[in-house]
Amino acid sequence: MRRRTAVLISGRGSNLAALLAAAQDPNYPADILLVVSNVPGAGGLALAEAAGVPTVTIDHKPFHGDRAAHEAAIVEALDAAAIELVCLAGYLRKLTPLLVGRYAGRMLNIHPSLLPAFPGLHTHERALAAGVKRHGCTVHFVTEGLDEGPILAQATVPVLPGDTADTLAARVLAQEHVIYPRALALLASGQAGAPDKPLIQAATAP
Ligand code: GRF
Repeated sequence: MRRRTAVLISGRGSNLAALLAAAQDPNYPADILLVVSNVPGAGGLALAEAAGVPTVTIDHKPFHGDRAAHEAAIVEALDAAAIELVCLAGYLRKLTPLLVGRYAGRMLNIHPSLLPAFPGLHTHERALAAGVKRHGCTVHFVTEGLDEGPILAQATVPVLPGDTADTLAARVLAQEHVIYPRALALLASGQAGAPDKPLIQAATAP
């Protein structure tokens, strides 16, 4: 049985597109059955609709900062679709213990750095400012700490002379699209039970 999966987005949805493409394969162990956006009109919503996947927009603004109430509405939508696994893909809201606890061990996030380096925002700018030679992306389980959960997959890319935050972001993003579907497949097929070691490590030359 393919695991019933939802993807939470706030924006353009390129990682969502990578997950949807992987799930086109009937042998892929996760089926994406719902896309939830907290931003009305987010680009990813159109991608989901084009793929025939139901979407729901649960705008956080009418909740006036009541994060738990906003998440309760999200949980209700996830429950209504009998969702088992959740992928955060550019979902730009801080989570509360409600959603984190509900999906403990069943919720993944993709982050554009080699965690534990550069948690939080502006990762590419910070990597350039720090002068690192390699940068990358991480898929990790979601826990209450920001970008802190056990790591499931990482990919590294070189930082090249003349890189800007934009050129570096594009190089990293291409790898995000590789490792996120692979990481979800591991979780969905029950092979992600040993979060003490990253199960995927991809690297691009040099
Ligand atoms: C990605 O860089 C992801 O790592 C970060 O937010 C960005 C989302 O991009 N969490 P997209 O919406 O998947 O294109």
